[in-house]
Amino acid sequence: MSDEAGFTVKLARSNKSVFVKEGGSILFSLMEAGVMAPFSCGHGICGTCETAVLSGEPDHRDFVLTDSERESGEVIMICCSGSKTPEIELDL
Ligand code: FES
Repeated sequence: MSDEAGFTVKLARSNKSVFVKEGGSILFSLMEAGVMAPFSCGHGICGTCETAVLSGEPDHRDFVLTDSERESGEVIMICCSGSKTPEIELDL
């Protein structure tokens, strides 16, 4: 499954859901919804936006995580990565 039609990001701590449209960035979709998250490079190279994944399967597009970190699915770089599942829940 891909995220071509978009996916929903569920935010556990702020109890919000934000839709990320096809080709969109989780980080910028959150910002549009008024949810601020730390970031720096915006291109998947610094690791500042690393966020814990509570459920769902990340579609990793960063250059930071190791292969084993990618396979674990426990963290995601929200500036550039997407979701392979229709919904992904983050610790935000
Ligand atoms: S902000 Fe740098 S990796 Fe996401």
